[in-house]
Amino acid sequence: MNPPKTDARRHHDPAVRGFASDNYAGAHPEVLAALALANGGHQVAYGEDAYTENLQRVIRGHFGPTAEAYPVFNGTGANVVALQAVTDRWGAVICAESAHIHVDECGAPERVGGLKLLTVPTPDGKLTPELIDRQAYGWDDEHRAMPQVVSITQSTELGTLYTPAEIRAVCDHAHAHGMTVHLDGSRLGNAAASLDVPMRTLTNAAGVDLLSLGGTKNGALFGEAVVVLNPDAVRQVKHLRKLSMQLASKMRFVSVQLEALLAKDLWLRNARHANEMAQRLAEGVRAVHGVEILHPVQANAVFARLPYAVGERLRQRFRFYFWDEAAGDVRWMCAYDTTEDDVDAFVAALKEEMAR
Ligand SMILES: Cc1ncc(COP(=O)(O)O)c(C=O)c1O
Repeated sequence: MNPPKTDARRHHDPAVRGFASDNYAGAHPEVLAALALANGGHQVAYGEDAYTENLQRVIRGHFGPTAEAYPVFNGTGANVVALQAVTDRWGAVICAESAHIHVDECGAPERVGGLKLLTVPTPDGKLTPELIDRQAYGWDDEHRAMPQVVSITQSTELGTLYTPAEIRAVCDHAHAHGMTVHLDGSRLGNAAASLDVPMRTLTNAAGVDLLSLGGTKNGALFGEAVVVLNPDAVRQVKHLRKLSMQLASKMRFVSVQLEALLAKDLWLRNARHANEMAQRLAEGVRAVHGVEILHPVQANAVFARLPYAVGERLRQRFRFYFWDEAAGDVRWMCAYDTTEDDVDAFVAALKEEMAR
């Protein structure tokens, strides 16, 4: 067989993968094939196309007959649109201090959405009724932004998971105080795969009103969706999406990607695989003396503490991020395309660097 010809238009080595982020992965070939299928001809713009219509059917299959999907470009956009739809101008959002909406969205919820975030420190990225109570007060006090929504993340930014019962407890507590519940499900598939439950069990069946559903980290080129689960609690996502610059004119290409992931089991296969690779990685790391795993490894992330100099040297060999440089804490993410060989090579490199 002839060796593959190099193509001058290719500017990277497709065989190289690291552990920096599930966003570093490319798009799954089945997603790319679906995009090609959706190409050609004219389709009504701005969401009146056949692919977006079919996505609604697929979403209802996952989340029940009242669920409605609003495809958007990215996860920050999904969160900003979703949270505006459940807050008044005087409203506030209770979330974990580690929440993506608080630490990783450049203040977009505040500046684009005009939202006040009320944060709570958590040991593991998870809110509980008791932790929510640290911010859930003062509804009658015009001096304080009014807590109107609780936002949780599943799987969390620290790679941990809420059980369905824990989500139910958060939702019951929020609802008892007249607040709605938003779930940042950028990695909801990883959570459902790990807990071996349908995504519905972790969302509307547990009381969640509104969801940011991830696609990008699960194998899409780009694209997420705001999914309205409880239409009685949510207002005007349609207008808010456009106002927030998240309305794609050629929406068929966002919708068809989500359809490719969700219509059958591609989402689950991808999520399961990424989770399995994280388990393999954690197992390998546990055998390396001097490296501490910081949080339960329940989805596709491994957080660890190791000497800073070792982390620095290892980063010359594989891409990943320090989470807390001063402490030497790092985050290692697995993706749908991480291979067993990638993990084994990484663990071998970690051992070498620790022994130096
Ligand atoms: C928990 C969580 N929410 C939302 C996002 C969405 O971010 P983006 O706007 O980069 O798609 C991310 C991405 O890293 C995330 O980890």
